Amino acid sequence: MHVAGFIGEMRESANGLMIRITIIAAIGGLLFGYDTGVISGAILYIKDDLNANDAEQQWIVSVLLLGAVGGAALSSYLADRISRKWTKVFSGSLYFLAALGCAFSVNVEMLIICRFLLGLSVGTASFVSPLYISESAPPRVRGGLVSFNQLAITSGILIAYLTNVAFQNVAGDWRWMLGVAALPGAALAIGMLTVPNTPRWLQRHGRPDESRATLEKLREGDQHANVDEEYQGMVDATEKEGRGSWKKVFAKSMRPLVLIGLALAFFQQFVGVNTVIYYAPTILTDTGLTKSDSIAQTVFVGVTNVVFTIVAILLLDRVGRRKLLLTGTAVLTVALAVLGVYFWSGWMQDNLPWVALGGLVLYIAAFAIGLGPVFWLMISEIYPVGIRSRAMALSTMVNWAANFVVAGTFLTATNLITTQGVFFVYAGLGIVAFLFFAFKVPETKDKTLEQLQRELVKD
Ligand code: BGC
Repeated sequence: MHVAGFIGEMRESANGLMIRITIIAAIGGLLFGYDTGVISGAILYIKDDLNANDAEQQWIVSVLLLGAVGGAALSSYLADRISRKWTKVFSGSLYFLAALGCAFSVNVEMLIICRFLLGLSVGTASFVSPLYISESAPPRVRGGLVSFNQLAITSGILIAYLTNVAFQNVAGDWRWMLGVAALPGAALAIGMLTVPNTPRWLQRHGRPDESRATLEKLREGDQHANVDEEYQGMVDATEKEGRGSWKKVFAKSMRPLVLIGLALAFFQQFVGVNTVIYYAPTILTDTGLTKSDSIAQTVFVGVTNVVFTIVAILLLDRVGRRKLLLTGTAVLTVALAVLGVYFWSGWMQDNLPWVALGGLVLYIAAFAIGLGPVFWLMISEIYPVGIRSRAMALSTMVNWAANFVVAGTFLTATNLITTQGVFFVYAGLGIVAFLFFAFKVPETKDKTLEQLQRELVKD
């Protein structure tokens, strides 16, 4: 049985330190998810309280995404220079300050600046969390452990939805909604002070003894680990590669891998996931539901996202990344087509109103077992250590930029080509994504990062 098997493997291979590292690093994902989900509810109160006009509201919502693009760029440098660990300490501290800044904003301008800073922090954490976990994890359970970060993202979104429901009728309390997130921000910064640097970063930064000692601690009790071999692999990889640079990211030998990362980043957003996350209540009200019913059903979408992310965690290291990615992408494409047909057919809307919620739930479940976790996991696995943080940062920037474009165009696009038109376009992109993944994306399960490097990089 896959599930029981994975839990057994986790018990055998991930010791207490590894679990602690994973949980602390994944707080970064929680902040990412909370911000994704909370603003749609908070903006309703902010707009009255701070007298924000339409353009200002748009900025308050979306400036975070621009900040995240900047944060990803910045941390491509930081993650190498000051380490993965200290980059996360920085991210947690900045988040703490920015969340308080949002909560105490006296005017729209201050709120926009603080949301931008929050974005810088979230953009940083979004890829340094998977990077940090991936470089520490035992290969047999790496998929599940890295995807804890995605579980934290989806839990953050769900908590935000629930917060929105709880504060629905409490005017003025948007300050609490934005401010409480300072606590996990502080927890991230303080927690990261208590865990070690990744063995791979230490090894590359002239600290071989610490690297080896950390690897030994991380593999303690793991019968399947071979510390000598894994360590030697790291030494060889470093020797082979020399210093990392942007030039190397764009070198001919890296192009296929960079393309895979960018395509995953692009498709993860262009199948419209955040349209569903941000606009689920709007989509559901369009089907004739009352406002409060559609908010309740949105919570159901959030729960499904969490539950199926857990399913992915249990399966990624057993059935592999590719199968889940392909199955997930195929099913979400069907769900998008179903939603398209639903909005196109007046008959369906009159007679089968449950199809809208069914389509959204099917869609999010499929995203949660495939593209959701697999994008972040793959980009933490496929790149050689020398260019890993830069190449991950590049994919992450494209992901946030695409998120910005999709979120910013959804409402205009529905006016232009109708809601069904938009869903059909997403479905079309789902088909292209499926074909690309089927032909180009490699399987990465069970191998050390250095084995992957040897197999994937053709000089
Ligand atoms: C994506 C986010 C999305 C979330 C939904 C993440 O992997 O990067 O843009 O909101 O999944 O679960």
